[in-house]
Amino acid sequence: MRIFIEKDYDAMSRRMAQIIAAEITHNPACVLGLATGSTPEGAYKYLVDWHKQGCLSFQDVLSVNLDEYVGLAPTHDQSYRYFMQSNLFDHVDIVPENTRVPDGLTKDPAAFCAEYDAYIRSLGYVDLQLLGIGRNGHIGFNEPGDCFVKETHVVDLAESTIDANARFFATRDDVPKQAISMGIGAIMGAKKVLLAASGAEKADAILGSICGAITPHCPGSILQLHPNVAVVVDEVAGSKLKAAGVSVCG
Ligand code: F6R
Repeated sequence: MRIFIEKDYDAMSRRMAQIIAAEITHNPACVLGLATGSTPEGAYKYLVDWHKQGCLSFQDVLSVNLDEYVGLAPTHDQSYRYFMQSNLFDHVDIVPENTRVPDGLTKDPAAFCAEYDAYIRSLGYVDLQLLGIGRNGHIGFNEPGDCFVKETHVVDLAESTIDANARFFATRDDVPKQAISMGIGAIMGAKKVLLAASGAEKADAILGSICGAITPHCPGSILQLHPNVAVVVDEVAGSKLKAAGVSVCG
């Protein structure tokens, strides 16, 4: 793992965006695995800026998103499809048909999940998978449990995830209780992974993922088995890594 500790959220976002832009420049027809939430928002702003300056094109890029809330339409302002459109897709030259986000309204979740995995396999898996992390160590919405789930699946969100995401909804009761999430198989099948985190409340999840036991009780810890992971954190999210003596880049 290469670990970058940046001074704040903006520096973390810039570093993330540089890694994503480098992937697109190196391989213009790459497959990006994308995440939503507060963590990648700043990186997406940098990518949009660089696109507007004429430095970066998404014309041949394909994307697959990690997850979507069950029950939210793509037009719902808290759906992850809506997030992707408003934070990235509507502002760059990506071909709409080349973007995939799980369908939160699917009538047949089992068939949908199998098709999503088949599509990812048909692409030869993701080239660069972007990941945020939950306070409980979840990646995608692979919540802590007794085993890692390999396939795309419907997941019951952990109470701590519902608490954390309540900030985006009018009330906690409005937060969907389930999501469709890419499984650990597709995430670990990615050729490269970029894990990012900011804020003190992510410090334990980052420490557990990078230095802790490999266990489904901290899903991010499986990344220790991946051969090509870059970790980009701000100083507070990375504070426990320094104390644990982890060697960092730069
Ligand atoms: C989002 C996702 C989640 C988030 C995680 C952190 O697509 O898969 O794993 O990355 O919940 O969320 P933020 O970035 O909002 O702290």
